[in-house]
Amino acid sequence: MANFLARTSKNMMDWVNARAPAMMPVYRKHMSEYYAPKNFNVWYYFGSLALVILVNQILTGIFLTMHFKPSAAEAFSSVEYIMRDVEWGWLIRYMHSTGASLFFICVYLHMFRGLMYGSYQKPRELVWLIGMVLYLVLMAEAFMGYVLPWGQMSFWGAKVIISLFGAIPVIGNGLTEWIMGDYLPGDATLNRFFALHVIALPLVLLLLVVLHLGALHEVGSNNPDGVDIKKGPKGNRWSTTAPADGIPFHPYYTVGKDLFGVAFFLILAAFIIFFAPTFGGWFLEHDNFTEANRLVTPEHIKPVWYFTPYYAMLRVIPSFFAIKLWGVLVMFAAIAVLFLVPWLDKSPVKSYRYRGLLSWAMLIMFAISFVWLGKIGAGPGTDPVETIIGRVLTFLYFVFFITMPIWTKLDRTKPVPERVTMHD
Ligand code: HEM
Repeated sequence: MANFLARTSKNMMDWVNARAPAMMPVYRKHMSEYYAPKNFNVWYYFGSLALVILVNQILTGIFLTMHFKPSAAEAFSSVEYIMRDVEWGWLIRYMHSTGASLFFICVYLHMFRGLMYGSYQKPRELVWLIGMVLYLVLMAEAFMGYVLPWGQMSFWGAKVIISLFGAIPVIGNGLTEWIMGDYLPGDATLNRFFALHVIALPLVLLLLVVLHLGALHEVGSNNPDGVDIKKGPKGNRWSTTAPADGIPFHPYYTVGKDLFGVAFFLILAAFIIFFAPTFGGWFLEHDNFTEANRLVTPEHIKPVWYFTPYYAMLRVIPSFFAIKLWGVLVMFAAIAVLFLVPWLDKSPVKSYRYRGLLSWAMLIMFAISFVWLGKIGAGPGTDPVETIIGRVLTFLYFVFFITMPIWTKLDRTKPVPERVTMHD
């Protein structure tokens, strides 16, 4: 059987090769002869998992689109129809809505891995920058997707977030109206968000993923030691010219590692989809099971968890001199500053494994402030003590980035090994 499969797959490869000889070099460059460091650990699962979720979102999205009605009058009931009457519709919808949250969990862990191992440092700045653009587009994609079911939180979330543009002097109000296509979120808003959500942004996401991986494969992957394997000795059992510490991405990482990660992840995802699809209101908010009503405001308007750290910043920053722009600026700056990380980090060492206590203290402080802000942003925002804490955390969030050129230089680094090490 194994022999038969091997022979058939070789015959198929030969057949394709005879007709499209330019395809094989691409496959070799990115798969079978892409030498990835042999010391990847669990943090290296999240890039491929994000990719799997992207595929899931597109596939389940196609089936949802078959039954969804993108109009303010019908959107909510068409989603109810998908949930109750369309065969397996409930499963497709929950796979899509749970997928959105799992996407952000994977992307946040993926970004944190990048920070921890200095994967944005030279020569991988472009990989990081394209990653950041991916993050922005993903946020826009998720935001617009959440508006589509036209529940209470879809409507009021859209109203609050789009109205933020109104804080921009002079053009603000015109811009808000232009984005909504109306004075309040309505049919025009839903229509354009649908177009952007189902076709425009997914295409952009796919293109960016190709660029992200293309940029990565030009320079090669970083690893938990932050040691450049290309600079080390050459030659291993696969090739005499490949880095000695590199193994072919396919099949060693595809079958040997990523497939295991995907299987484990799918089991976990299935548990959520089958037993807790709303995840206690974190993945799908309770208010969104009520149809949008422009005359009734929900008790607490808040975005889904993956936006709440930024939303908390927006809420806790007071409006000085009656200008409400500050909160908006701080919120956007919190995202923009991430673009600068490759140039803010002056450490001679990539990975935190070989950095000192100071770097670790700063990284932990950053992680705590981000998560805690997320919790504050998800709350009602009425507690004055929490508002003060939120301001302190926002300050600490920015301290991490703004003082990065200083603490990365002051930090006492440890000697970096010549070659990668294998940890359990
Ligand atoms: C749709 C979202 C994304 C997808 C599908 C994606 C996918 C991937 C994949 C498959 C890899 C190679 C495997 C790995 O190293 O884990 C990778 C590497 C990388 N990604 Fe992403 N990524 C996404 C978003 C981001 C974001 C938001 C950032 C950061 C701003 C980022 C930064 C990086 C970096 C720095 C690497 C190289 C890591 C290393 O070599 O250590 N990615 N990405």
